[in-house]
Amino acid sequence: MDFPTTRMRRLRKNENIRDMVRETKLLKEDLIYPIFVKDGLENGKKEPIPTMPDEYRYSIDDAVEYAKTLENKGLKSIIVFGVPLTAEKDEIGTPAFKSTGIVQKTIRKLKAETNLVVIGDVCLCQYTSHGHCGLITEDENCDNNLKILNDESLEYLCKVAVSQAEAGADIVAPSDMMDGRVSAIREALDENGYDDVIIMAYSAKYASTFYAPFRDAACSAPGEGNRKSYQMDPANTNEALREVELDILEGADIVMVKPAIPCLDIINRVSENFNMPIATYSVSGEYSMLKTAIQAGVLPEESIIEAMVAIKRAGAELIITNFAPDLLDKL
Ligand code: PBG
Ligand code: ZN
Repeated sequence: MDFPTTRMRRLRKNENIRDMVRETKLLKEDLIYPIFVKDGLENGKKEPIPTMPDEYRYSIDDAVEYAKTLENKGLKSIIVFGVPLTAEKDEIGTPAFKSTGIVQKTIRKLKAETNLVVIGDVCLCQYTSHGHCGLITEDENCDNNLKILNDESLEYLCKVAVSQAEAGADIVAPSDMMDGRVSAIREALDENGYDDVIIMAYSAKYASTFYAPFRDAACSAPGEGNRKSYQMDPANTNEALREVELDILEGADIVMVKPAIPCLDIINRVSENFNMPIATYSVSGEYSMLKTAIQAGVLPEESIIEAMVAIKRAGAELIITNFAPDLLDKL
């Protein structure tokens, strides 16, 4: 063959043709917006988050108002992260499971005033005095002489999930990475009559440096030690498949890979191996790195779409992202 009969460029000739043959389409309904709601904030006084440009902590009323504007632009779902009063934090994370907790109150109001699918983040780290996602004890065999207790933590995570379901959450999303939490939460929800509440499990959640801005935003950085004894080692992939498989067996309805851009291979392997809805969390560090570069004029705005399309192309159906407001304006 001295000249190609196949010319790949035919299908790239103009925008209409490219639109017709595009394999991956990013839709508004793919997006979940993470919102930070802070106890004790005055209405009208949203707090800028220094490490996350254009992102804020809101009072409950302001969060719900903002959620309404996003819903009007086509947002389908929101995940609520609480920032409790520092003085209320304790060893067991009590403000996480009070029926009058910041997340519970926000969920109630969102359910009353919007049609958004409302997700509660189930964890203890914003609510514990030590900043870990479970209860702790001393153990000289562990890093920093600190052991994060697994089975003892489950009881409290179940309380968080049930209190959020009671407030009206459509979905609970455990992000703690304790073993067995999906089955424990499923059982607790069912026992309390919440058998139709969905569990979106942070199944393959890595101990990632890209969470740093979030910990700033949510005031949830561990005081001592790190999260490497419960979150996954970023060097591992087979382990991610085992985590996902276990969560499915335990009753997860949606499985999640987190973070997203540093884990495109993991998203892809999970999507090739399991017939499940797959969510991914494009985390705070991914957001801030791109947003900062755009604001500095280093990258164009279209980089946001390229990054999100890459995440979807890897195999994720749902993307939790702080870029949701920007994307709702673009899509
Ligand atoms: C805490 C939690 C974290 C994130 C969501 N839930 C941080 C962590 O595990 O320390 C990260 C989200 C982000 O970085 O945007 N359970
Ligand atoms: Zn946590």
